Amino acid sequence: MSNTIIVGAQWGDEGKGKIVDYLTEHADVVVRAQGGNNAGHTVIHDGQTYILHLVPSGILWPDKRCVIGNGVVLDPVALLGEIDKLAAQGIEVTPEKLAISDRAHLTLPYHPKLDANRESVRGGKKIGTTGRGIGPTYADKVERSGFRLADYQDPVALAEKLAAKVVEANLILDAAGVEPLDLEAVGNALNAALERLAPFTRDTAALLHREIKSGARLLFEGAQGTYLDIDHGTYPFVTSSNTTAGGACTGSGVSPRAIDHVTCVAKAYTTRVGAGPFITENQAFSDRMHGMGREFGATTGRKRRCGWFDAVLVAHACRLNGADGLAVTNLDGLDGIETIKICTGYRLRGELHDVPPARVEDWEAAEPVYEELPGWPDTPTAGAPEIGSLPTAARSYLDRLAELCETPIELVGVGPDRSETLVV
Ligand code: GDP
Ligand code: IMO
Ligand code: MG
Repeated sequence: MSNTIIVGAQWGDEGKGKIVDYLTEHADVVVRAQGGNNAGHTVIHDGQTYILHLVPSGILWPDKRCVIGNGVVLDPVALLGEIDKLAAQGIEVTPEKLAISDRAHLTLPYHPKLDANRESVRGGKKIGTTGRGIGPTYADKVERSGFRLADYQDPVALAEKLAAKVVEANLILDAAGVEPLDLEAVGNALNAALERLAPFTRDTAALLHREIKSGARLLFEGAQGTYLDIDHGTYPFVTSSNTTAGGACTGSGVSPRAIDHVTCVAKAYTTRVGAGPFITENQAFSDRMHGMGREFGATTGRKRRCGWFDAVLVAHACRLNGADGLAVTNLDGLDGIETIKICTGYRLRGELHDVPPARVEDWEAAEPVYEELPGWPDTPTAGAPEIGSLPTAARSYLDRLAELCETPIELVGVGPDRSETLVV
């Protein structure tokens, strides 16, 4: 396998973690390049469940290297908690296995508080963020007042800047009636965390350039999904980074010229967690999924909203990301359904559209145009050993998705375990 970018084609939680874990066997370095611990990537194998938030999923393979790139925002205390949890599950995260960019921006204790405060003043227009401080951290980065891991090298300047930022944050929190932060406690916790992270901290762009030169195969693990992208998503109901394929390059320092392959991951239906437009959302379908114990968020435990596959969205995502192929996960989630719907167009003010609109108001006003396909109510796909053993109706459904998205299907998921991945 050559240098490959894996990105979500919907609103996140498409099963990227599982696909990255599966493909890591044929990679040398697994790279996260955007997002933060808003991500929750589930990997299941050998009866163990791992949920990765900041650490690339490749960490579960003993002989692979992992990189957290410059485009990631990282909460140092949360990252250490994750490293300790992995150690308790028998996965050692050492500086030899994990390198963290010295340019990565830090999520500090005031960021989640400001995140929560901004949500509360939005009233009925909440984004439904994960509450991890992602928006405020990226806002500081873009506004040029953020902290990077490299700042640890000058503790005096860091302390001065931290004092000013805590004063600024406390003014906002105080006005909102939220308990202010204690500068000393924040500083002490930060220093302790940065000291532990120092051996992991590197110029990861330079490291990746050396890896590429030596012939290593890179696998980029996207976080969130195309419609949570700050530019291409359902703005303002999005996250604060570029979740599309380009984000893998800017967030790692690897040139687009070094990328050989892009795979978009999409569920065989659609889910979304948090607020915002969702044209194919269907309450009965959501209830069915939750009744089966499926579709609860890996980071916040919230119920995911569920609906039919939206081919307008995924086809456009394939174009935005330059997808060479699709990985369709959770096909088994459609087992037992008599008739399956696929959205093939949006009707907005009497006109038919085949690309998503710019304005949230238009997303909300648009009506889905569906085509119906027969399901496979009597023959489950769950645990199918190979693509050839899928029921004919399931094969036809996949063929139709590929046709509508103008992208071949490379992988199909029929269960959450690493082994439940079928190669097409
Ligand atoms: P990610 O954020 O894109 O990595 O996805 P999440 O891990 O948040 O959510 C995907 C959910 O679907 C997790 O619970 C996975 O274990 C599960 N999953 C992934 N692929 C499949 C599949 O093909 N079938 C089933 N049944 N579950 C899957
Ligand atoms: P993975 O990598 C699903 C959603 C939140 C909210 C919006 C903004 O597991 O696919 P944020 O905390 O980023 O400011 O929240 O984005 N969101 C996700 N939804 N999967 C994710 O990551 C998500 N990361 C953020 O629910 O709607
Ligand atoms: Mg997830």
